Amino acid sequence: MSRNTDFIAFARPSIGPEEEEAVLRVMRSGWLTTGVEALAFEKEFSEYVGSPHALAVNSATSGLHLALEALGIGPGDVVATSPYTFTSTAAVVRHLGAEVAFCDVAPGSYNMDPDALGRLLAGTKNCRAVIAVHVGGLPCDMKAIRALATRYGCALVEDAAHSFPSETAGGYAGTLGDVGVFSFYATKTITTGEGGMLVTRDPRVAARAEKMRMHGFDRAAWDRYTAKRASWRYSVTEAGFKYNMPDILAAIGREQLKKAGAFLEERRAVAAVYDGAFSGAAWLELPPRGEGHAWHLYSLRTRPAKGTPTRDDLIAGLADRGIGSSVHFIPLHTMPYYAERYGLRPESFPNAASAFERTVSLPIWQGMGLDAARRVAEAVLGVTAGEGA
Ligand SMILES: Cc1ncc(COP(=O)(O)O)c(C=O)c1O
Repeated sequence: MSRNTDFIAFARPSIGPEEEEAVLRVMRSGWLTTGVEALAFEKEFSEYVGSPHALAVNSATSGLHLALEALGIGPGDVVATSPYTFTSTAAVVRHLGAEVAFCDVAPGSYNMDPDALGRLLAGTKNCRAVIAVHVGGLPCDMKAIRALATRYGCALVEDAAHSFPSETAGGYAGTLGDVGVFSFYATKTITTGEGGMLVTRDPRVAARAEKMRMHGFDRAAWDRYTAKRASWRYSVTEAGFKYNMPDILAAIGREQLKKAGAFLEERRAVAAVYDGAFSGAAWLELPPRGEGHAWHLYSLRTRPAKGTPTRDDLIAGLADRGIGSSVHFIPLHTMPYYAERYGLRPESFPNAASAFERTVSLPIWQGMGLDAARRVAEAVLGVTAGEGA
């Protein structure tokens, strides 16, 4: 098979000999679940992003659940977020018996519109928290969202699943609100296969999330089995969850963390190839950009015009040319569960609906190489121009 017909995956993890060694080290250590590796990963991650508390968890979904639980969200409460996100962001609100209130994304953006949030908060009783989602790794307008959250007495949670590393003048995305949650799912910039990290400055939130992460025990398993005066005794003080990150995964995360800066540089270079290729194409709209973009996603939009391909044509044309792609996101207000529960229609959030109809996420990952990026760009322009594969 010639190089030009090799399949270019939408995403691929960058796992090297360092990660393999780290996993072997843990497997040979005799301690597989949460222990020294997870503690070290938490410490290193908290130093990296400059947040005093970091808790490693088994997914960002778990971390978001813990965050809202620790903030005291429960039945009778409302949590505001954007429908332009993955299902976890809103599902965790429902897990706690609270209701979700959506507000639209800003025109041309994939992120929450502060003006729409302001209108929502002004008209919503019992809104106790706002979840800002940094879609694709581009930080939301946190200054405006923070001001609104403060004005309406809401806690501010960041769904930073896509946002590592995303450095802004005010700090890393994920540390700009009350609690931030990162994902290390297999397609994320740094990965542990499955995993996540909750960060907060609030010691009470950290203590509550730590306890609820591990069955509501009064002490961690690590402590029970290895403390100098180890005791079999423990006490269950809450009906907690089982959301801890095992050491095998934490060891992978520690190696990935060391490479995060280099990974970001590679992703920026791929984005620059795409920008250069598409900036002259009137039928394509470049992804929104801004300070601290982590380039987790490169989400292009088609501009609907007579005779130009639709988003679905583009996806099919890329597949014909051996190129993977994806769509972020199918807005939650169009999903049957939320549409039926809250009586929503696609046009309830027109900016989100329009973004969804036109968007496609192109391959962007460290290790894919700039030749592959150029091939993707040529393929996009080829499909757009109506050329055959
Ligand atoms: C915006 C967003 N939030 C939360 C999650 C959940 O992450 P995880 O798979 O680590 O639970 C995802 C998953 O990709 C996501 O895209």
